[in-house]
Amino acid sequence: MRLAEVGRTFPTKDGARTVLRGVDVALSPGEIVAVVGPSGCGKSTLLRLIGGLDRATAGSITVDEASVQAHDESTAIAFQEPRLLPWRTIAQNVALGLPRGTKKAAARARVAELLELVGLTHAAEQRPREVSGGMAQRASLARALARSPRVLLLDEPFGALDALTRLKMHDLLLEIHRAQPTTIVLVTHDVEEALYLADRVLLLRNLHATQPERPRAKVVALGSGSGIGALGSAGPHGSGPEHPAHAPDRTGSVARVVTVPGARPRDRAARAITDLRTSLLDGLGVHHHTTLTSTPLTTKETA
Ligand SMILES: Nc1ncnc2c1ncn2[C@@H]1O[C@H](COP(=O)(O)OP(=O)(O)OP(=O)(O)O)[C@@H](O)[C@H]1O
Ligand SMILES: [Mg+2]
Repeated sequence: MRLAEVGRTFPTKDGARTVLRGVDVALSPGEIVAVVGPSGCGKSTLLRLIGGLDRATAGSITVDEASVQAHDESTAIAFQEPRLLPWRTIAQNVALGLPRGTKKAAARARVAELLELVGLTHAAEQRPREVSGGMAQRASLARALARSPRVLLLDEPFGALDALTRLKMHDLLLEIHRAQPTTIVLVTHDVEEALYLADRVLLLRNLHATQPERPRAKVVALGSGSGIGALGSAGPHGSGPEHPAHAPDRTGSVARVVTVPGARPRDRAARAITDLRTSLLDGLGVHHHTTLTSTPLTTKETA
């Protein structure tokens, strides 16, 4: 898959607002790329563009040389919430992801295979409300895999899960990837997750954070109790600092592309990984993370 100088500008009542600019990256087949960045920097927007749910206003996105289009079967997307149909069984929900026109017998076999892959064979006939959050998320993953997408798009897929389930899901995803080496774009707020799963990590910047230093000051100020006011005043400055004409930042959305060393599964505590983690958190404006032991190390903190 190739993203060539991709940009997305939204018309708003205050004028055009550029959320993504100059995203230029090529993914090899089977590669796992994690996308991290502060809240609002355009991660979900980027996934929607790749998934054909929205159109880029600049540049182009191609999968195997063909432009992505709406309802394109070359990509599949899964979200933070499983978004299952409550009145259908787990198996029926998975079947919804199958390519249109799949014959009945083939569909049954493929659903059984997918349920096996995500460890849900025993829950095939249950309804979403009868299964745990982790199981529902596994069903959502199976549904996305059902059409054998060339690119699997995951938007914070483990974000709503408890820590232990999340770790299990990481290994499950790697297992699935070994069995079906799909190209994966994974949006996450969790730098650890990115470094455990991905071949490369794309760090996006928020084009509308006019001064990159400001979020850092806010993070520190929050602890002193005076930060809330500072955060609250970030939006409605005068005639609106959000307008692109006022934004001095002419650079692109991609702040850094980091290649993660070592083969998967990785040792989360390996020196090279912990160094990268520090460096990525630094890039996200989280500086004193080693002392913030009671705070989860997620990029939401820098929002
Ligand atoms: N349809 C739209 N019209 C106008 N603005 C939009 C639209 N969709 C997204 N945006 C804006 O684009 C920016 C990026 O949104 P996006 O959801 O991609 O961020 P994100 O990086 O996924 O954030 P989070 O980490 O909180 O999920 C936000 O400021 C949002 O308000
Ligand atoms: Mg998002």
